[in-house]
Amino acid sequence: MPSSANHRNAGLDLVSAPTGAITGDAVPLYGEVFSEDQHGLYERLRREWGPVAPVLLEPGLPAWLVLGYYEVLRICRTPRPFSRDTRRWRELQEGVRHGSVPAELVHRPGLAFAEGEEHERLRRAVSDALERLDPAAVARHVREIAGALIDRFAPDGHADLVRRYAHRLPPYVLTKIVGVPDGEVAAFAAILTREVRPGRPDDGELERRLLDLVELRRGEPGEDLTSWLIEHPSAPSDKELVHLLRVTLRRGDRPTADLLASALRWLVSDREFGSAVAAHRLGVEDAIDQVLWVDPPVQNGAPHVPTQDARIGRADIGAGDLMVMSFAAANADPVLSGGLAELGHAGLSGRRAHLAWGAGPHRCPAQRLARMIAGVGVEVLLDRLTGLRLEGPAARLDRRPSPLAAGLVSLPVLFEPAPVRNGTEPVFEPAFSDPFTDPEQGSSRGRHAARRGRWFRRS
Ligand code: HEM
Repeated sequence: MPSSANHRNAGLDLVSAPTGAITGDAVPLYGEVFSEDQHGLYERLRREWGPVAPVLLEPGLPAWLVLGYYEVLRICRTPRPFSRDTRRWRELQEGVRHGSVPAELVHRPGLAFAEGEEHERLRRAVSDALERLDPAAVARHVREIAGALIDRFAPDGHADLVRRYAHRLPPYVLTKIVGVPDGEVAAFAAILTREVRPGRPDDGELERRLLDLVELRRGEPGEDLTSWLIEHPSAPSDKELVHLLRVTLRRGDRPTADLLASALRWLVSDREFGSAVAAHRLGVEDAIDQVLWVDPPVQNGAPHVPTQDARIGRADIGAGDLMVMSFAAANADPVLSGGLAELGHAGLSGRRAHLAWGAGPHRCPAQRLARMIAGVGVEVLLDRLTGLRLEGPAARLDRRPSPLAAGLVSLPVLFEPAPVRNGTEPVFEPAFSDPFTDPEQGSSRGRHAARRGRWFRRS
């Protein structure tokens, strides 16, 4: 294993001689060490290897993890020799452990793995459709759905904010935005939240429903993403439309849920951060950005496969190896002035140079929407509940065992029991005759009182 060295000027060299596969030095991105202290592990790898280090995504599944901020930027922005097409990935070509490869890394037709003109055409359609969303209407949907979700646990005085709130709000909002008819929103949102694994018959139902939706909106266009994609000048085929909608929903749901969960976690567990937001010294928008710096929902992602051998720092990367961008490690790269600031410190406030949205042509096209869902989700919750605090120690909060997106599994909190806000129209029937677990109905029109400050328990 190489010793500590400063590799930051090593740059990115293309080399002509094959340099061999990832070595036995590869460090697992699973197991206790990773789950207990991911940032500690990234820093150790950075010290030992520089900006790119060998890791194992699963037992026997090697990859190069790109830890350097500028290296992530350069690879994501440079189409050659770093291809997005993971069908070139040697381990996959050789059929190694295909069943255990994270779904996000397996090539699928459409936007996320497309390159060049095909990517530009599909990307334009999605970006233009997202652009047409009316922020005021989206904010209203988010408030209504958030209010209805909170109604269902507000009187209890305790709740798991991941399971009952953060993981529910985005799928309902996204389902609504793509134009699913009100009566089908609940069932559709439930399908969307199912875990996808390669080798499992996963997406069949989602794709069938999306095809039905495309057919419906061809006949009855509305003010929704599906209708806008259908009428887009790039005229995607029905099959392309289904792929575009699927990738938009799949790429949107979980990261937004994880961002909301993480923001709530910091608010209730970090005194300095929580009191800065409560006292309006830190706006919710800036608070969201701070969370995106220190805990980006897509911690590792944006797979690339080099088409020729390359050397970055000490890493000799072979053509056909898999490279995974570590947005979490890149955000903490000491080359950035000040490095990773602690949450709550004013240094990062308002700075948006983090890589939580990715970089280059595949950078997230839905930042505004994601920020709105998470930001309004936070605000509504803080306005409704007082005395919020963690039910147990922050150190006991578990994360999903994923090398790519290890979001919180639960966030048990206590608060002052609050009344249901009855007497207003239901959000949409029967969205909350629940596909998940809860039988009761709730409703709210989202009266949005400016009461922030009461939620935070100072003692
Ligand atoms: C906090 C929430 C979100 C985060 C942190 C996030 C992050 C990212 C990142 C890092 C990428 C780049 C992945 C890559 O290069 O392979 C990406 C791509 C993408 N995201 Fe997001 N995203 C979020 C929310 C959303 C939402 C709400 C939507 C849509 C409703 C969405 C739609 C997409 C799509 C369609 C792509 C693929 C773009 C392309 O390949 O050209 N994302 N996102």
